[in-house]
Amino acid sequence: MEKLIIEGGRPLYGEVRISGAKNAALPLMAATLLAPGKHILRNMPDLRDTRTFVRLMENLGVKSERTGDVLLLDTTNLLHTEAPYELVKTMRASVLVLGPLLARFGKAKVSLPGGCAIGARPINFHIMGLERLGVTCKLEGGYVDASIDGPMLGNVIYFDIPSVTGTENLLMAAVLAEGTTVLKNAAREPEIGNLVDMLTGMGARIEGKDTDKLTIHGVSRLIPADCSIIPDRIETGTYLIAIAASGGAGTVTNCNPSHLPSLLEKLRGVGLKITETETTVSVGWFDQEDKQRVIESVDIKTMPYPGYPTDLQAQFMALMALSSDTCVVNETIFENRFMHVAELHRMGAKIRIDGHFAVVTGQGLDGLNGAPVMATDLRASSSLVIAGLAASGRSEISRIYHLERGYENLVDKLTRLGAKVWKEQE
Ligand code: EPU
Repeated sequence: MEKLIIEGGRPLYGEVRISGAKNAALPLMAATLLAPGKHILRNMPDLRDTRTFVRLMENLGVKSERTGDVLLLDTTNLLHTEAPYELVKTMRASVLVLGPLLARFGKAKVSLPGGCAIGARPINFHIMGLERLGVTCKLEGGYVDASIDGPMLGNVIYFDIPSVTGTENLLMAAVLAEGTTVLKNAAREPEIGNLVDMLTGMGARIEGKDTDKLTIHGVSRLIPADCSIIPDRIETGTYLIAIAASGGAGTVTNCNPSHLPSLLEKLRGVGLKITETETTVSVGWFDQEDKQRVIESVDIKTMPYPGYPTDLQAQFMALMALSSDTCVVNETIFENRFMHVAELHRMGAKIRIDGHFAVVTGQGLDGLNGAPVMATDLRASSSLVIAGLAASGRSEISRIYHLERGYENLVDKLTRLGAKVWKEQE
């Protein structure tokens, strides 16, 4: 296993280019199962999770070829319609093959993902929605065994809570259903908009993109896709917070600032100077030379999009650990997403947890010290990297395979910004 070593306390300066979004790449790959043929996906990030998803697709019989950031998937001939536990347990998003396999073949058997570090994460909305479309779902031996004779039949489906992959799964199921399906209280994360654009390009008829009501008029067949993956808004936010926490200034390029409305407002509240173009965001201090500057404490509450993203909660908390006062972080999406707190304590952070709330007492810009810490999940790990970059001295972050699930070329990108960071064998 590898660990990440960071010699902290060096301000980051310069430019960093953002990769394609992990959480768009995965549903877009799944959507290629809907139409036999050769699909082209551009701006495909090379991550542990995208590689796992390609393995899952290959296991189904899909042929894949990667050239640079272009992934070609040939879904002409599939071998079977089963996603095995060995693959699903390493990546929950594997459940995204359920909808498209059912739509094309009328059957699918997918392992239940089980719990994960950030919470129980059930898939009851996915199953309820498929049943509303006429699918029979049996839960046996840890698998969802789903089937339907004939096409699915359009219906109205209401989500109790907007679910990102739930919305994606049902969208993919409904595009080939007979009649009209309406998804109400649907999630409206930008990754879903990316999927809607891809499906529309394949011949699907969908109304309500980027809203919480998606109306899908089923069509009888779809054609292969040629589609580009949107920039990763969580990677964008992570670098903006990292640059701010280090006391530096820089520009994040090849991104879409309009996908980060809530974070950019929070960063302005912190006292940072944020400037945007259509594809870049720059972050810095109003007086870059001012050694007395402070990070203002700002509360956050995670919410479905366009609210503050849960996937940027841990990173913002690392920034708040360096702030001048006290703030409250309220995590409303996942029940166990404060795993980074105990590790941040090891670096000198003062944070108290009470249920869904964390009270952060900022220690000031020089308040953290390097320490050996352990990565527990993807976003918790990136918060430790941010803390390590801002802390004085050396930090060692073990179990960095979590980071590799979602951050392409992290070490190279940080090094180009001036960080002293490298990998070593544990
Ligand atoms: N929920 C249910 N039942 C369901 C589905 C969801 O109760 O059937 C609950 C969840 O437990 C949670 C809430 O609904 O409390 C929202 O969960 P959602 O379904 O939206 O999460 P997800 O689709 O499993 C995606 C991202 C996550 C991100 C969440 C929230 C992908 C592949 N994953 O997960 O990304 O945190 O949406 O925005 O898109 C990450 O990238 O690090 C990550 C965890």
